[in-house]
Amino acid sequence: MSGAALTKTGCAVGGLHRKAELAHAKIIRVKKLRVGVIYGGRSGEHEVSVASAASIFRHLDRDRYEAVPIRIEKSGQWVLGGKAPEVLSAAEVETTDTNALQSVAASAAVSPERLDIIFPVLHGPYGEDGTVQGLLELADIPYVGCGVLASAMGMDKAVMKTLFASRGLPIVPHITVLRHEWVAGSRAVADRARELGFPVFVKPANLGSSVGISKVKLTAEFTPAMELAFEFDRKVVVEAGVPNTREIECAVLGNDSPEASIPGEIVPSREFYDYEAKYIDAGSKLLIPSPLTPKQASEFRRLAIEAFQAVEGSGLSRVDFLMNGETGQIFLNEVNTLPGFTTISMYPKLWEASGIPYPVLLDRLIALALERHAEKQALRTSIR
Ligand SMILES: Nc1ncnc2c1ncn2[C@@H]1O[C@H](COP(=O)(O)OP(=O)(O)O)[C@@H](O)[C@H]1O
Ligand SMILES: [Mg+2]
Repeated sequence: MSGAALTKTGCAVGGLHRKAELAHAKIIRVKKLRVGVIYGGRSGEHEVSVASAASIFRHLDRDRYEAVPIRIEKSGQWVLGGKAPEVLSAAEVETTDTNALQSVAASAAVSPERLDIIFPVLHGPYGEDGTVQGLLELADIPYVGCGVLASAMGMDKAVMKTLFASRGLPIVPHITVLRHEWVAGSRAVADRARELGFPVFVKPANLGSSVGISKVKLTAEFTPAMELAFEFDRKVVVEAGVPNTREIECAVLGNDSPEASIPGEIVPSREFYDYEAKYIDAGSKLLIPSPLTPKQASEFRRLAIEAFQAVEGSGLSRVDFLMNGETGQIFLNEVNTLPGFTTISMYPKLWEASGIPYPVLLDRLIALALERHAEKQALRTSIR
């Protein structure tokens, strides 16, 4: 309320106030949000990230957002500015500032050119795992997607299973093996794995894109599979293979009241959805929606929301399931906190099929990030 009613000249003063307020509102309306898009990264999923970022640049509403590219080279070097990846190929993006890691943190805190929000579009380790999210927390800048804890928990297949189990959510029988346990007694580990029943899947705990994963059908294949997985992590998960596997995925969007999309299905071109089937051999199919009964579809949506909450997700995640195609038994496989985000990726396509087009999805994610940041800002940081 203005103080106009308190003075004789209040009318004029009030009028001025109102004019100033209108002008202010106009400034607020025309000021575009500066959205830093961090992409690339030190991971095997560098190229997927570049493709995801290119789609985001193409679809961010230019009347409302100014998109600022922030590229992480495979070497780990940060590059602020330059052209968006839609313009140049991944290998050619111009360098304008090679000291950008510090610049990003500094611009978030003090610069008049500060970024209003960051959209990290990094898949796999050093991006999807909470490391970049930690940097953004320190810089006190809002960012899209899951926070540090959810990102780290969603990256670790062993921790994730523990969280699912603690909520009574369905997971496959599995064991977790640390490198020192394997070195101390590989025979005992092999015995425990056999009890799960072959085939088993052997996976590094913290990775993605099926890198380092083997399907083991015979005892002789077990040791090489374990050794391969230990090249990528000191922790390995061995899990029972789901027979007649169907792979169902749901997209989740929201903070405190998350929603789940209709379920989709992957039909891999190979024996399982390995690295080749994901990125090299184009024969894998996405079925949207997945051919499920209405009852099955609603069960997947319910479980997707529960899984998202189990890892304390915020913003977005894609929740992946394994279903026994014969018995219909459902198992939670994993939560991907930064799923592929190209216009032909499962996450945006599931939302499109559920009534949220790609540009609207970007708006929603930005709004959710601002909401979560504001909530955190309102917390007390001192005890007096
Ligand atoms: N327990 C399992 N039963 C059957 N297939 C599995 C099992 N675990 C993994 N797979 C197959 O391996 C693929 C990759 O495993 P996943 O755990 O999703 O790893 P990533 O995080 O690398 O995607 C899955 O998409 C699926 O095709
Ligand atoms: Mg997967």
